[in-house]
Amino acid sequence: MNPVKLTDDIFWIGVNDTSTKLFEGLWSIEKEGISYNSYLIKDEKSTLIDLCKDIKGELLIEHIKDRIDPSQLHYLVINHMEPDHSGAIMQLLEIAPQITILGSAKTREMLEAFFGIREHVQVITDGETISLGAHTLHFLSTPMVHWPETIMTFEEKNGILFSCDGFGGYGVLEKSIFDDEQDDLDYYVHEALRYFSNIVCAFSKPVLKAAEKITPLNVKMVAPSHGLVWRADPQRILNLYIQWSEYAGGHAPKRVCLLHGSMYGISARVIPSIEQGLKKVGIPFSSFDVGETHISYILPALWESAGVVICAPTYEGGLFPSMEFVLEMADKKRMSDKKAIYVGSYGWGGGAMRFINKQSEVLNWDLLGKAEFNVQALPEDLEKIEALSTTLARSL
Ligand code: FEO
Repeated sequence: MNPVKLTDDIFWIGVNDTSTKLFEGLWSIEKEGISYNSYLIKDEKSTLIDLCKDIKGELLIEHIKDRIDPSQLHYLVINHMEPDHSGAIMQLLEIAPQITILGSAKTREMLEAFFGIREHVQVITDGETISLGAHTLHFLSTPMVHWPETIMTFEEKNGILFSCDGFGGYGVLEKSIFDDEQDDLDYYVHEALRYFSNIVCAFSKPVLKAAEKITPLNVKMVAPSHGLVWRADPQRILNLYIQWSEYAGGHAPKRVCLLHGSMYGISARVIPSIEQGLKKVGIPFSSFDVGETHISYILPALWESAGVVICAPTYEGGLFPSMEFVLEMADKKRMSDKKAIYVGSYGWGGGAMRFINKQSEVLNWDLLGKAEFNVQALPEDLEKIEALSTTLARSL
């Protein structure tokens, strides 16, 4: 996609990345891709806001040159140092060695640690403003959204919030960068939730603090560094991030996430009984085969569910490893304070419960019950499983 005007003198000059299969080396974006949104403000002191991953640096430089003579660039604002935004900095410095880099005190340390950059760095502080001429930038310290050095930049004349990871989402930008020009806005909302649950949800409190800081500003456009630019309804993405952050600590909606994994389909045979038990109460649920589904698609549903069914067998004295991984990631992403039940088969000695008990304590999940069966679930096991699922649904 070519550069796009946000206003007469502010441009999206970002790039789409469809070659990275795992974002951060972890999160599947093979189908969806991701955009690295960079911006250019043309003024007496022309300014770039954020860059991109190094592999897309060449295209970013083309976009910059398309809109400005690089020798005219005065500032580069680094809202966030993660290399998906800072990776192209050495390529930029080759064409604009005169540029002054603006960032937080921690950004200065990271610039040296990541790139050996010590010169032309100017530290800005929370609430500080810098005039570019016709535009004024107002800097907001927003630590841990997503790293400790992170800031957001508010452009006062047009009310544009350059929020970097905050309010961002997966998904390349194809026909348009704007919310009001999408055929399927729900797709981008879901990709924003997936991004939130993969990258940001562990820092829900910092997101809420950032949202409080933003509230008094007259934000007319939210321009994150991934995903859509929200110009028609900026409040929608701000509210969604607030809503998702408020799910932390046991406040998720009354839904169930049914996690199942099975070596030979024996544990999976009980899924209809689980579903039947949930349906009796009419509780909405979503279901994932943890062996078949990438964790990046499971975490959004887990984040949005107050209840969890863990259905998987014992494996070599522990829990089925794909399920252990999901529950360990749930801890890493601070998906605490839920209600759960365990259902699964064992061949001889069992052992899954050792992990389930330990992990429930770590996650502060209230384990309402278990239904273990030796190899095959008998009719009485199925009855117990259905009743246990109903108990879980009723408890929410
Ligand atoms: Fe988009 Fe935390 O980097």
